[in-house]
Amino acid sequence: MNGQLEALQQEALAALTAAQSLTETEAWYHEYLGRKGRLTAILRSLGQLSKEERPLVGKRANEIKEALEQALKQRQESVAAEEIQRTLAAEAVDVTLPGRRPILGKLHPTNQAMREMVEILKQMGFQVFDSPEVETDDYNFGLLNFPPDHPAREMQDTFFTTRPNVILRTHTSPGQLHAMRKYAPEPIRVILPGKCYRNEDVTARSEMMFYQIEGLAIGHRITFSDLKGTLLNFANQMYGEGRKIRFRKSYFPFTEPSVEVDVDCILCGGAGCRLCKQTGWLEILGAGMVHPVVLKNGGYDPAVFSGFAFGMGIERQAMLKRGVDDIRLFYSNDVRFLARV
Ligand code: DAH
Repeated sequence: MNGQLEALQQEALAALTAAQSLTETEAWYHEYLGRKGRLTAILRSLGQLSKEERPLVGKRANEIKEALEQALKQRQESVAAEEIQRTLAAEAVDVTLPGRRPILGKLHPTNQAMREMVEILKQMGFQVFDSPEVETDDYNFGLLNFPPDHPAREMQDTFFTTRPNVILRTHTSPGQLHAMRKYAPEPIRVILPGKCYRNEDVTARSEMMFYQIEGLAIGHRITFSDLKGTLLNFANQMYGEGRKIRFRKSYFPFTEPSVEVDVDCILCGGAGCRLCKQTGWLEILGAGMVHPVVLKNGGYDPAVFSGFAFGMGIERQAMLKRGVDDIRLFYSNDVRFLARV
């Protein structure tokens, strides 16, 4: 009987060493010490032994039981410690790794350029005036002195709505009329930044939605020199001190005379390069003296008042300044572009 007990103890201790988790030590407990365990079975059968044998075997069996209970406690403690070690190792953090930068949002490139331009013009005394993106045909064309058959009115240029004569503005110039009609006969200096829409094919050079800033100054003795000074100052602040500008004669129905304005190439300084197509100049805007018909439509007497106006594409300025060669990038939501510009 004692030999059987010794063998059971050896086997139990070996099995306990093999138990690698708390679950396995639980199973071990049921196998040997539990209610239906093998040592328990032996202890229960002591009654069948002879009087002489019983105390000896009983004593030894109880010693083994205590030894196994002691061994189980130790094994459970070390298995628990090992489990903690494994968890810690699995969740270990390498504190020497470099940190990750949080991704920061930023202003859209169009907004950056718009704010920059508005700041420059505000500081010259222009006030921002809000005007609607949805206009009547009259404000967008008629009151700006477009003849009824002007090609700009054609279907392919304008987005119409289901309401007769209601369109999406094709430029910010109709805002001139809103500002004039609000303030006439006071002198005004306003800028009108905002979205415009044109029903055109989308290409690297034209989007169907884009932004412009319109400028308008009306007063008693406003001359072409004022326009020149304003635009030269703008070009110097926007594109760098010492920039030159040049005026080319042009035509817009709402200005007379009308000009297109170039700045000397910001890349080559006028020598000729790819950006300026070897001309040395970059076109930045259209401008002119407000046409007497437009002054009258706005509520100003052309015999008493004169004014200048200009209009420029915001994405175009951003493209020139930041070397972007495709306007479609602005509205295709590619973060590689949005984060870079
Ligand atoms: N509205 C013109 C366009 O979209 C730009 C323009 C030209 C605005 C001359 C003006 C101006 O105020 O005087 O092409």
